[in-house]
Amino acid sequence: MSVVRIFILGSILNPCLGVDPISAAVAVGAAAFSKAGKLFCSTGLLECCNERYIKLDVQGLERDLKENLHGQHLVIPIIINAVKGHVADRDPKKPLVLSFHGWTGGGKSFVSQMIVKHLYERGEQSDFAHFLYSDLHFKHPSRVEEYKDQLHSWIYHNVSNCERSVFIFDEMDHMPEGMIDVLVPFLGHNLRIDGVNFRKSIFIFISNIGGDVLTQKAKGQWDSGKLREDLKLRDLQKPLEMSAYNLLSGLKGSDIIQKQLIDHFVPFLPLEKIHVRRCVEDEFKRAGVFNVSNEALDSVLDELDWWPEKDKLYSKSGCTKVTHKTRLIHGL
Ligand SMILES: *[C@@H]1O[C@H](CO)[C@@H](O)[C@H](O)[C@H]1NC(C)=O
Ligand SMILES: *[C@@H]1O[C@H](CO)[C@@H](O)[C@H](O)[C@H]1NC(C)=O
Repeated sequence: MSVVRIFILGSILNPCLGVDPISAAVAVGAAAFSKAGKLFCSTGLLECCNERYIKLDVQGLERDLKENLHGQHLVIPIIINAVKGHVADRDPKKPLVLSFHGWTGGGKSFVSQMIVKHLYERGEQSDFAHFLYSDLHFKHPSRVEEYKDQLHSWIYHNVSNCERSVFIFDEMDHMPEGMIDVLVPFLGHNLRIDGVNFRKSIFIFISNIGGDVLTQKAKGQWDSGKLREDLKLRDLQKPLEMSAYNLLSGLKGSDIIQKQLIDHFVPFLPLEKIHVRRCVEDEFKRAGVFNVSNEALDSVLDELDWWPEKDKLYSKSGCTKVTHKTRLIHGL
């Protein structure tokens, strides 16, 4: 069967797509591929863009976050509510756009992986989940125009293949300035762009930007003898938005922020000893050791860098180095 015939057949079977002849002609190559995919997916060999393969396991996500994400009391409710609400909505008004902020090792990448794991049956292997790393995909600032075209095409074609796609942009701190605004048309309230509906997609931006602001807020709370858990989301979102807009990163001065296209600025607070200790404990458990002494746990904490120097309140690298250090020290 020729490529064109597959495409026409696909169009007949999918009449609701409503592609006009010109963009159809332009998109024929990629479209034929994705339509063929849609035909063959019923065989069970390919992943399909339907409820069989895309079904949010809310309980699983919540359980996973509660058990494995430490010290982030603000993150869990935002994620659960935002993702649940967006996925349950058959006709969302805009794509869900989240921006994760905080020091390294606070769980930002972990949470984005959890969302993908509990949304797609194939988890991170899903063809509909896209992880983009600035240091890998957008490395050379001089090639920014080329990257923009490429990114535009990736998003367009991937979403025309499956509306429930997730795009995760990690290392936003290193994305060349101005590049991200190529996403503006996809993130708004547009009904369709060239026949494609982008409003069911999820976009997540990850950066360390704003980590210092969050640390100041947490420290202020500590200095005045208040609980970290009493920090409220509304006290943190505006400072995060300001940092993202003003500090050097892929989001600096971007239309995405100016046009209010980000639904939630999600604060990941710096981790205290009590939280990092739980990460060390998790590491022992993964190795099958369940009765670890406090001395053994603290020996790993002693190897990490803390801020401020004097009080050693917050781990500068959160839980990132824990796996490596625990294995090294305790030979797991
Ligand atoms: C979909 O996105 C990926 C990046 O995750 C890219 O490599 C691929 O080429 C895109 N697909 C299309 C058809 O553009
Ligand atoms: C942990 O349990 C094992 C056997 O279950 C025992 O041999 C070991 O001494 C225990 N370690 C500590 C620190 O209690």
